[in-house]
Amino acid sequence: MFLRLGYALLRKLPPETAHDLGLRLLPLSPYRMNYAEECFTVDTKFGRLKNPVGLAAGFDKHGTHVKDLAKLGFGYIVAGSVTRNFRKGSPKPRIVRRERENALVNAMGFPNPGLEQFLKNIDENRPSETPVVVSVADEKPENLVECYAAVQKNVAAVEINISSPNTPQLRHYFEPSVFRNTAASLAAVKTKPTYLKTPPYATQNDREAVNRVVKIWYENGFDGVTAVNALLVDEPNVAVGRGGLSGRPLFPYMLECVRNVRELVDEGFEVHAVGGISTGSDVFEAFRNGANTVQIYTALIYRGPYAVEKILRELKEIMLKRGFDSVEQIRTRR
Ligand SMILES: Cc1cc2nc3c(=O)[nH]c(=O)nc-3n(C[C@H](O)[C@H](O)[C@H](O)COP(=O)(O)O)c2cc1C
Repeated sequence: MFLRLGYALLRKLPPETAHDLGLRLLPLSPYRMNYAEECFTVDTKFGRLKNPVGLAAGFDKHGTHVKDLAKLGFGYIVAGSVTRNFRKGSPKPRIVRRERENALVNAMGFPNPGLEQFLKNIDENRPSETPVVVSVADEKPENLVECYAAVQKNVAAVEINISSPNTPQLRHYFEPSVFRNTAASLAAVKTKPTYLKTPPYATQNDREAVNRVVKIWYENGFDGVTAVNALLVDEPNVAVGRGGLSGRPLFPYMLECVRNVRELVDEGFEVHAVGGISTGSDVFEAFRNGANTVQIYTALIYRGPYAVEKILRELKEIMLKRGFDSVEQIRTRR
C-alpha cells in the first residue's frame, strides 16, 4: 500500500524530483520482494544469481541506496557510473518522460560524488545477498584505469562505460588505437569479472565501430559486454537539447546488439542485455537471442517498484507454456 501510494504520487512529479524522492522514501518501505524459484537462478562469472534481472547503471549514481534497492528483488545491482572526480552533471531539466512511448530521455552528464566518496557510500550500503556491480566512466584513460583498479576490491564485477550518449568526449574510445591501449591498461590491473557497456547503433559504420571495440575487449581476456546504453536523440525539453533515449523504443536496438555479439564471440563471453526490457516476454526474447542476464531501468519508472516481481511472474508463465525448466535453458536451447 505504502509503495503503491508513493508510486502514484511520484508519477505526478517532474522526473528527477520523483527519482530523488523515490530513493529517499525507499528505506521507509516494508516491501521486500520474496518471489524466488529455483528455475530463475543463473550462473555468471560474478557468481550464481537468484534471478536474471539486474538494475541497470545510472539509477543509483552515488552508491547510497544499493541496500534499499536490493529489497525490490533484483538478481544484482549496477551502481554508478562513477568518475574519478566529483561532477555536478548537466544543467536541469535533464530527464523527460515520453509517456506514450514508455520511454525517457536523459541528459544527466554523470552527476556523481567522485571515486573516494562513492567507495565510502558503497561500503556503508552493501546489501548482504545481492551482488553489486560498479560502473566506471571517465574521458581520460588514466582516470578510468584508476577508478577501475580502486573499485574492484569491494564489488562482484565492474562495468566500463564508454558509451554514455551525453558525453561526446568519450567517443575517442572508439578509435581502435586508443581503445587497444586502454583495454591493455585495464587488463593489467584486472582482478574481477569486467564488462564493456556498449552503445546501440543505427548505421553500418557505427556497428563496425562497436564490433571493433568488442573484439579488442574479447582479445584482452575480458568477460563480456552489457548491451546497450541509451541512444542519442534530439529533445527540446532537456536543457542541453539532446539526450539518451531509453525504454521501449530501445528494445530492437538491444536485440540486434545481443545477436551481433553472439555471432562475433564464443558462448563463454557473457552478454548482459539492457534496453527496453519491461516484461517477462522481453526477458524471454533477450535470452532467446543469447543474453546471459538482463538489466532494467526505465521499466522501474513505468511499471513501478514491483517491476521485478511482475517480470518474473510473467516469465515463469511463458516458461511453463513453452516447456522450459530453467531460465538458462532458454539461452542454451536456442
Ligand atoms: C536517467 C538515466 C541515467 C543513466 N545513467 C547511466 C550511467 O550513469 N551509466 C550507464 O552506463 N548507463 C546509464 N543509463 C543507461 C541505462 O543503464 C540503460 O543502459 C538504458 O537506460 C537502457 O535501459 P532501459 O531501457 O531499461 O532504461 C542511464 C539511464 C537513465 C534513464
